[in-house]
Amino acid sequence: MNNPADYITGLHHLTVSVGSAQEDIDFVTQVLGMRMIKQTVLFDGAASIYHLYYANADAEVGSVWTTFPFKKAGVYGRKGSGQIETSSFSVPTASLEFWVKHLNKHNVPHSGIIERFGDKMITFEDRSGIGMAVVGCDNDNRNAWETEEISKVNGIRGLFGATIRSRDIIEMDFYLTKVLKFSKVGQDGDFHRYHIKDGGAQKTIELHHVPNMEQGSWTFAVGIPHHIAFATAKDEHNLELKAYIEGFGYTDVTELKDRNYFHSIYNRTPSGALFEFATSDIGFAIDEEENLLGHQLLLPPVFEHRREEIVKPLEEIVLPKYLRV
Ligand SMILES: [Fe+2]
Repeated sequence: MNNPADYITGLHHLTVSVGSAQEDIDFVTQVLGMRMIKQTVLFDGAASIYHLYYANADAEVGSVWTTFPFKKAGVYGRKGSGQIETSSFSVPTASLEFWVKHLNKHNVPHSGIIERFGDKMITFEDRSGIGMAVVGCDNDNRNAWETEEISKVNGIRGLFGATIRSRDIIEMDFYLTKVLKFSKVGQDGDFHRYHIKDGGAQKTIELHHVPNMEQGSWTFAVGIPHHIAFATAKDEHNLELKAYIEGFGYTDVTELKDRNYFHSIYNRTPSGALFEFATSDIGFAIDEEENLLGHQLLLPPVFEHRREEIVKPLEEIVLPKYLRV
């Protein structure tokens, strides 16, 4: 490895703030059909907010979707530029007809099957207004979680990529290509596509050029995406990456933060979107067995003595059937 940017292997997870916890659990497990793998809380700040994690059948890095339900706390924000516009999930192209019917059945308004960069996809929003897409990708062997309504064949394999709304392309293009060493692979209308290494599922980032759109909220708030996390292997790589990014003059790279299931650094990008770089060497089985992932509310050891005060304000939730043990 000559360049710390080479340590980035693809997406690690995507994180958004949503409405109520129950609405989120129902949408992600029933409409998206993902596996709920972790119930914990937001580690930053003083408010008690759930942090819910979902993934594919194998709870793999690069399949992870995480949410902060902010409705109970009553925190709302503004949509705009400098935010993730669309979080996209990888499904087989042949399953898109199924997804049209499935979204209709659940009363989720959608785009129908559209095409961008030659990929067929359907765009829609979750119940809180988070932009999402299922993207047809036939080169993705990851295992989808199976539900009563979604077969393993049709299910979400993991993350495909993310589209960022950016008022400016030049500075963000520099950051993506010269700093992070992603490759620019094309432009389709106002969309610019970048590949991490060889691209495809888990390795695709797009910019949507929106020069006239006002800046959206950077805060946690209902219906507002929060960050894109990229995967690195371990702490040493993140520390090298931090020093490397700071060397360009982007001095706002955070210290290494302990997220219990991974260790992360964060950097505000020229687009306004927040990037995280998260290690892959710890994983979700650190505090519960692989086959029981998500079945109980888990706190990091440093929060455990405050469990009662943290849990009390949280919304009561009904878990998916497979987690009711
Ligand atoms: Fe994150």
